[in-house]
Amino acid sequence: MKTTHALLLLAASLAFTACSRPPAAEAEAFDLVGAMGDLQRWTDKLGRAAEVGNWPLADFYLHEIEETTEALVAAGIVYHDQPVSQLTGAMLEPAVHVLENAVKARDAELFRRDYATFVQTCNACHAATDFAFIRITAPDVAVNPWNQDFRPAP
Ligand code: HEC
Repeated sequence: MKTTHALLLLAASLAFTACSRPPAAEAEAFDLVGAMGDLQRWTDKLGRAAEVGNWPLADFYLHEIEETTEALVAAGIVYHDQPVSQLTGAMLEPAVHVLENAVKARDAELFRRDYATFVQTCNACHAATDFAFIRITAPDVAVNPWNQDFRPAP
């Protein structure tokens, strides 16, 4: 009974937060969800290219990721009160640069390690911005054709 009550209170406060949020005008000027979709696609292709040792192709996708990351930082986005641009600069940009070293060195082992960190960074920011349910993964066709875990959070 007590738990039910607490859950109801939580649901009510969440609903209130959702209602009191400002309209997503900031995100309309910059296509945030479009940029995220691009990041996902390029992250997927980057992982697949590096996995088979196609470093020029990996470099191409990483470059696209870097440009989109820079555009996100420059756009000054605050989305649902979340400082998306600031977080991108603090979290994602350093992870991109770390990954660049592995691609330049054509070091598969280093890449695998830094790619895992990079993907975790995507998810860490999703958690930080209340989008924890968007969980990016390393590509694994044995799971599904997407580099995303669609299951409910454990
Ligand atoms: C600054 C924090 C932040 C970082 C870093 C970040 N995301 Fe996101 N992501 C978001 C937010 C906020 C949304 C929700 C956007 C919306 O609702 O319009 C989102 C949404 C998404 C979506 C949903 C859109 C779709 O097409 O399914 C995907 C996928 C995604 N991000 C992938 C990524 C990937 C891949 C990375 C890392 C390379 C990444 N994100 C890094 C904050 C971030």
